[in-house]
Parts: sequence; structure tokens; C-alpha cells
Amino acid sequence: MTESRPLGPTVRHPPVRAADPAAVSEAARAVRQGRLVAFPTETVYGLGADATDDRAVARVFAAKGRPQFNPLIVHLPETVAAAALVRFDDRAAALAAAFWPGALTLVLPRRPDCPVSRLASAGLDSLAVRVPDHPLALALLRAAGRPLAAPSANPSGGVSPTTADHVAAVFTADQVAVVLDGGRCRVGIESTVVGLTGEGPALLRPGGVSAEAIEAVVGPLTGTALEEDRAPRSPGRLTSHYAPSRPLRLSTSAPRPGEALLAFGPDPPGGFAAVRNLSPAGDLVEAAANLFAMLHDLDRREFTGIAAMTVPDRGLGRAINDRLRRAAAAKRG
Ligand code: TXA
Ligand code: MG
Repeated sequence: MTESRPLGPTVRHPPVRAADPAAVSEAARAVRQGRLVAFPTETVYGLGADATDDRAVARVFAAKGRPQFNPLIVHLPETVAAAALVRFDDRAAALAAAFWPGALTLVLPRRPDCPVSRLASAGLDSLAVRVPDHPLALALLRAAGRPLAAPSANPSGGVSPTTADHVAAVFTADQVAVVLDGGRCRVGIESTVVGLTGEGPALLRPGGVSAEAIEAVVGPLTGTALEEDRAPRSPGRLTSHYAPSRPLRLSTSAPRPGEALLAFGPDPPGGFAAVRNLSPAGDLVEAAANLFAMLHDLDRREFTGIAAMTVPDRGLGRAINDRLRRAAAAKRG
């Protein structure tokens, strides 16, 4: 069943394409142009974007209508491609050897030169990676030549899609360039997410591979589970969740000495030690694409703090303001 959504009668849905080489090339071209494509995996259909393109990743959050940024899974065609983005330890290598391609996602530390958008990992120093077990997903990943950031292809709060028609029914042709039809998903529930950035392996989300099967390879999963699709509530919930180390305030009145400004729009206030503008044109997709990179940029000892302008509270603006509010509330010590 698909969830209903108020799409008017004049709205065009994305085309559903049968699995053939021409459809794969068309989807790969769309990915390289920064557009979104939906594709089947063995678990559920994914809403994919070039993970190295900040704006394309911002469009994923916009299309899903998520009020918060939560980190996305990055899909690769093989283990060596994943190992170029994140640091594998022995446990990660053993899990990849045992379950990839397959319904297991590994959260690992980003490499310093990792080209994946900071928005895809919601500003975290870790990244979730997975090699899916579906010929069409693998063909698309190889043809695109880019890692694909892909959450389940449903609007926020909706049911995860297991057929191409589920996906096509809930998005518009403006949001999604093409839906590749790989039939019904074999597993039908999302991948199991295992975190390997702390001391013991942590079960972050139960899914298609059982905890028992994972424990048989790496021993007890000592972490706690997160509910599916729940964004970390506070920087403490996922301990590495990104908050700048400099104090951040949501006001731009009276610049404080040595303070940097995170601006938005054409007329930012003056008097700050440095300025980064999320979008001089006032475009919320551009602002989301720049958010984490610019926060990192301003998070330096040479500044006494960061003053941030809030953005309009609509569309992606809600997720941007949510992140800024949480950064402002974060305790530092
Ligand atoms: O089966 C699946 O995993 C599907 C298909 C399309 O591959 N994808 C999927 O993605 O379910 P998404 O974005 O709906 O779920 C991502 C999950 C969330 O629970 C998120 O919190 C967790 O992975 N996650 C991603 N990156 C993380 C990170 N750096 N640290 C902790 N959790 C992370
Ligand atoms: Mg989901």
C-alpha cells in the first residue's frame, strides 16, 4: 500500500522504467546532473543522489520533507569503494566479507579526504556505508561512477516502498527524474545498521540481517538501538553528533568582539570578524547544501563564537533552524 499525498490531478509523477541498459544509463546521467533517482535494493527502494554533491543531497531532504537532517546511507558497488571513503578496522572487514553485498550498513569514521557531502552524514565524523545486493542497484552505481546517498524512497513518516509504483505514486517528476523498476524487494525491511565508531559494535537499527548473525562474526553488540528514522535528539544521543566547539547563538544583534557570522540572504549585518553566507540569494536548498561545511569552517579557535541568522521556517528551512537551535543549546565542556 502507498500512503496518499495531496498531489493534484495535474501533477506529473516520475516515469517508471523497466530494468534495461538504456534505463540504467538514463538514471546514471540524471545522477551526474545532480538529480534524484529511485532505485531498487534487496531491502527497500532508495531515493538516490550523488553523495559528493551537496545540493543533490539537499534535494533528498527537500523531497522527503524531513523536518530534521539525519544522516543518510551511502551506497557503493563494492567493498573497496567503501574503504576509500571510511576507515575499516578488522571488525568492519570481517562484517563486510560476511554480509556484503547485503542488508547490512556499517557506520565507520570518515577518512579525512572523504569526498562525501557533510550534509549526507549530517555533519558527523562518521559515515554509513553499504553494498546493496541487487543487480539493478549495482548496475546503477557502476554506471553513475558516484557513491549514492539514499534513504528509503518515501516521504518523511511514510511507509518504506517495496515496489516502483509505491515510489512513483508519492513523488513528482520535478522531484525524481526516474524510478528504476526492479520488481518487489526481496527482503522488504531496511538494512541493519551497525556502528563501529565506539568501543563495542553497536546495533543502531535492527533490519534485514539478524543481530545473532552479526554477533557470530564480531561478538556481542553492546550498543543500544535507535528507532527507525528517528533523528538523534541531542548531541548526546549520538555522542559524535556535530555541534561546533565554539559557542553558537541565534542572534546577530550587536556583534561581539572576535565573533564570526553565519549569514543568510542578501543583506547580512556588518561588524563580524568573518562571514560565511549560506545563500546570498536566499535559496534554502543552497543553504542546506552549505550548512555543515560552513559551520565547520567557522568553528575555529581564532573566533570567540558564532552568531547565526535563522532562515525562513519552511521547507528545508525548518531542518536548518532545527540544527542551528540544537547547536545553540549544546553544552560544551
Ligand atoms: O535498507 C536500507 O538501509 C535503505 C536502502 C535504500 O538502502 N536505506 C535506508 O536509509 O533505510 P535511511 O536514510 O532511511 O536510514 C538511515 C539509517 C538511519 O537509522 C540513520 O540514523 C542511520 O542509518 N545512520 C546513517 N548514518 C549514520 C551515522 N553516521 N551514525 C549513526 N547512524 C547513522
Ligand atoms: Mg526510511
